[in-house]
Amino acid sequence: MIKKTISITLIFLLFVSPYLRADEGMWIPLLLKKYNIKDMQAKGFKLTAEDIYSINKASMKDAVIIFGRGCTGELISDQGLLITNHHCGFGQIQNHSSLEHDYLTDGFWAMSKSEELSNPGLTAKFLERMEDVTDQVLANINDNMSESERYAEIQKQVRLIDLKASENGKFETVTKPLFYGNEYYLFVYKVYKDVRLVGAPPSGIGKFGGDTDNWMWPRHTGDFSMFRIYADKNNEPAEYSPENVPYKPKKFFPISLKGVKKGDFTMVFGYPGSTEEYLTSYGVKMISEVENPQRIKIRQAKIDIMTKYMEKDAGVRIQYADKYAGVSNSWKKWIGENRGLKRLNAIQKKQVFEKDITSWMNANEVRKSKYGSLLDSYKKTYEELSPAQLAYDYFIETIYRNDIFSLAASYRRYLDNINEQSKKEDIESAVSRLKAGLDGYFKDYYKPLDKELFAEMITLYHTGLDKKYQPPMLQEINTKYKGDVAKFTEAIYKKTIFADKEKLVDFLDNYKIGSNKKLEKDPIYQLYGEFFNLFQQNVQPVLEKTDLELAKLNRLWMQAIMEFEKDKVLYPDANFTLRVTYGQVDDYFPYDGVKYLHYTTLKGIMEKDNPEIYDYRVPQKLKELYEKKDYGEYGENGEMHVCFTASNHTTGGNSGSPIINGEGQLIGVNFDRNWEGTMSDIMYDPDMCRNISIDIRYALFIIDKFAGAKHLVDEMTLIRN
Ligand code: ARG
Ligand code: ASP
Repeated sequence: MIKKTISITLIFLLFVSPYLRADEGMWIPLLLKKYNIKDMQAKGFKLTAEDIYSINKASMKDAVIIFGRGCTGELISDQGLLITNHHCGFGQIQNHSSLEHDYLTDGFWAMSKSEELSNPGLTAKFLERMEDVTDQVLANINDNMSESERYAEIQKQVRLIDLKASENGKFETVTKPLFYGNEYYLFVYKVYKDVRLVGAPPSGIGKFGGDTDNWMWPRHTGDFSMFRIYADKNNEPAEYSPENVPYKPKKFFPISLKGVKKGDFTMVFGYPGSTEEYLTSYGVKMISEVENPQRIKIRQAKIDIMTKYMEKDAGVRIQYADKYAGVSNSWKKWIGENRGLKRLNAIQKKQVFEKDITSWMNANEVRKSKYGSLLDSYKKTYEELSPAQLAYDYFIETIYRNDIFSLAASYRRYLDNINEQSKKEDIESAVSRLKAGLDGYFKDYYKPLDKELFAEMITLYHTGLDKKYQPPMLQEINTKYKGDVAKFTEAIYKKTIFADKEKLVDFLDNYKIGSNKKLEKDPIYQLYGEFFNLFQQNVQPVLEKTDLELAKLNRLWMQAIMEFEKDKVLYPDANFTLRVTYGQVDDYFPYDGVKYLHYTTLKGIMEKDNPEIYDYRVPQKLKELYEKKDYGEYGENGEMHVCFTASNHTTGGNSGSPIINGEGQLIGVNFDRNWEGTMSDIMYDPDMCRNISIDIRYALFIIDKFAGAKHLVDEMTLIRN
């Protein structure tokens, strides 16, 4: 999830104001003292840089974790209790759900620690420290090296650094480039492996609004869930064991009951995944004009087909709910991103900047020879990359992420290299792995839907890409089937074993070495193989070549920007490392004549209530609490606040991040951005970009009043004034 760019900051800096434009930036905790803390304090932060990040004393960084693979979470009690998003814990909640215990629908609350549920594979990672290791990584690098020599040398140093810092496996370590390889940082993590589910609201609260409200404001989603970290007797990481005890954190967040006002200082501390703020105009053009429109079109087709079947049949709706959410999330984000880039005139803004930096480059011979040809090279590289990138997108979207092909891909992975020499136990293990996957796969599979999707995806691929990217089998569509994709599909589904569980069970039960011959004759297996080979021959090499070229161009381009802007503090693009972003509670004007308030209340949930629409079914108990206005100390002037917006610069991965007030207290949990602001991964707009958080008081209200799990609130430290 990583990438690169020119921040709009720069453009504003150049053409509008000499100061860093408000609220943009994802800052490195280690460098706050040097670059940001004064500005933060001027804007209302009352603590010090050391309170946020320190290796000498407990600091906020000790209360923030990487939750699972792609989210953030934070500690909220001295007994290892943590909070993150409902959509981050969704997989775990779903895993524990069955017909008898449908925690997705009904919610789950452990009334004592003994009821908490373990989650094999789920981890909580604490950052021990980060370190600038640029000098060591680049020590042997010189200008005469080729890009691949350079790459190899860097990998070698990175491995040495990571190995040493791991202290024989005690820590997980990773060294990552910042500013496109102009700097390198080491990150050292302690990884806890016994993380148990403590509580989750029903989907009618935690996923309220579903995909309809996703990426949108005004929002009313109670998007939170709670887990607890367990450790061994010495408070160290251990595999799950009933003997483990709740982890004692070095630091946890106190929780503010004071609420938020427009203009209040806010800070989000978490793990943003990937941004590309320093892209050239060529890069923005490729994303917004080549990639996004096609990806949106493909996903729209998927959504239409899924919706058609899901609306007809409640069973299918459940089967495809998660897949639908995945397809719809990026689809909607790309639409918002393209609208935002267009509204900002992003390409033109980048071009203006490029003209300006070019005059600066040309004004000096040294600079001219070092940077003068960069933009031309970018142009050429993107010209070469664009068609391959589009083919890649098509391959990923229409083929690779297609259920039936992804199933065939796993057979290819496990069985392709089985031959006469293979050991019996290796064969058995491959077969049993494949068998183990069948129930889960077919539980969420509906053949008529899959077939229609297949036909549509093949049509899009076939008509969307050049001849050079067409596998031989697709020619049959025209030769044998006279252009009729439905017939082509029919023939394939009749013959393949990949659309029926019984056929696969039969195949696996009778698997022997010679069985691969049968696989190779299977049309889905064959077709996937053709796509795969074609991809390796015609796409992969171009991507690899241009990747190396871009690595060099981006490094130099970033260097040029840093020199050109030497008085400005730049931030490195997000790369799923711990960052601080700060801003303020703020509303916005989404379009002419309309102003959105910075917060929503329970009243809005009742307004959206609609038993007919799945996304808007409000749990009965919540309605009763609303009728009684039974908000306890979590309400504000007779109202229950639900979500709020602020101007923090966040992205995917920031889900579950703590949103913190000027006193360092938790005021909310971040979970989304507004649709009008999703282009912030490429260009941030202070007027339009908002992060969306659940008001922590709503979470406490749900835990206490809705779920009756007051004992969890009692574990926390509440700040009342
Ligand atoms: N848009 C949010 C993010 O990118 C939330 C996604 C999960 N929710 C959903 N309805 N699909 O992660
Ligand atoms: N919803 C995103 C996440 O899951 C956050 C965002 O993109 O703003 O990380």
